[in-house]
Amino acid sequence: SQLLRIAAIAGDGIGQEVLPEGLRVVQAAASRYGLALEFTQFEWASCDYYLQHGKMMPDDWFAQLKGFDAIYFGAVGWPDKVPDHISLWGSLLKFRREFEQYVNMRPVRLFPGVPCPLAGKQPGDIDFIVIRENTEGEYSSLGGRMFEGTEHEFVLQESVFTRRGVDRILKYGFELAQQRPRQLLTSATKSNGMAVSMPYWDERTAAMAQHYPEVRWDKQHIDILCARFVLQPERFDVVVASNLFGDILSDLGPACAGTIGIAPSANLNPERDFPSLFEPVHGSAPDIFGQNIANPIAMIWSGALMLDFLGQGEARYRAAHDAIVAAIAQAIADGHVTRDMGGQLSTQAVGQLIADLVATSATH
Ligand code: NAD
Ligand code: IPM
Ligand code: MN
Repeated sequence: SQLLRIAAIAGDGIGQEVLPEGLRVVQAAASRYGLALEFTQFEWASCDYYLQHGKMMPDDWFAQLKGFDAIYFGAVGWPDKVPDHISLWGSLLKFRREFEQYVNMRPVRLFPGVPCPLAGKQPGDIDFIVIRENTEGEYSSLGGRMFEGTEHEFVLQESVFTRRGVDRILKYGFELAQQRPRQLLTSATKSNGMAVSMPYWDERTAAMAQHYPEVRWDKQHIDILCARFVLQPERFDVVVASNLFGDILSDLGPACAGTIGIAPSANLNPERDFPSLFEPVHGSAPDIFGQNIANPIAMIWSGALMLDFLGQGEARYRAAHDAIVAAIAQAIADGHVTRDMGGQLSTQAVGQLIADLVATSATH
């Protein structure tokens, strides 16, 4: 079978603690399902590297990584050492942009056995996917500061919405919605307050919708959309959003489903011209680093998404993905979880347990 090469980058904080557990589980799935994977670990893209070298990554990072089939990534950021905009624009945001990982797919699910912070919600009531635009929009370094230090001081922060960028994320969202049983899409907007970018986003959404007559869709302003995530999460199937709105929704959604510690993220270059990147939604969590209590499930679930994407529909990869998600569900149902989910297990104990479940899973 074809050898797939994966770059593993831990980054900062709990990225260092959860990546080994993700690797443990992905490797268990690879041996169980006969997948040929080869991992190469990189020590850069971290704030410690920055302190030593004055940059987050070596100058040839693109050449070093571009031949890999995927990047399996922990988290970056340690604001006491390096300002966040420097560490993130010097690493993760570079990967997303330069490898054209324009789809950020972030599934949200309430697992059986998780006490839901929303009253009266059952597993099945929360099961949707946030499709976040990942390369442009509100995330930009365009703008500047003028009249610094005077009372006229101001900063200007530009957003960029290109036709190509907006259309390709909407297309991905509608295509995904079309394949799912409920065929439902919600577009996040704010065209009442943002008078340029969001009316354009709405216009492109309506145009794209024409090509997908089976998909029932609507647009909702981001404020009420957030409220409905909390009050009526069962309304959602595929939620497509700009970079910033998608960022916010993809922490809110998992929080409604119990914890951000399980939320996975696939940064996809659907054309496969460049490696895609798989990482937890959460960050480096400096407040809990070093205690061995970080929840490794977001990292592990992201590993399952990686295998599914790499397999391009091949049954063994799909089975490996399913086995990992089933093992996660089993660990959660049994209460074999970390503190953020009300359990007592360590990061390593959860990783080991899920790896063992995968290793003994039925192969079909
Ligand atoms: P965070 O996600 O790191 O942490 C937020 C809160 O959630 C903290 O209380 C943390 O302890 C908790 N938490 C997060 N992941 C957890 C897990 N797996 N298990 C248990 N608890 C968990 O967000 P933050 O505090 O805003 O950011 C910390 C740093 O991480 C900053 O430098 C930020 O820029 C960076 N960050 C990086 C990424 C990324 O690499 N993709 C994502 C978000 C934040
Ligand atoms: C995420 C993170 C990043 C983002 C930060 C760290 C730049 O919050 O992956 O959700 O906003 O995209
Ligand atoms: Mn985020």
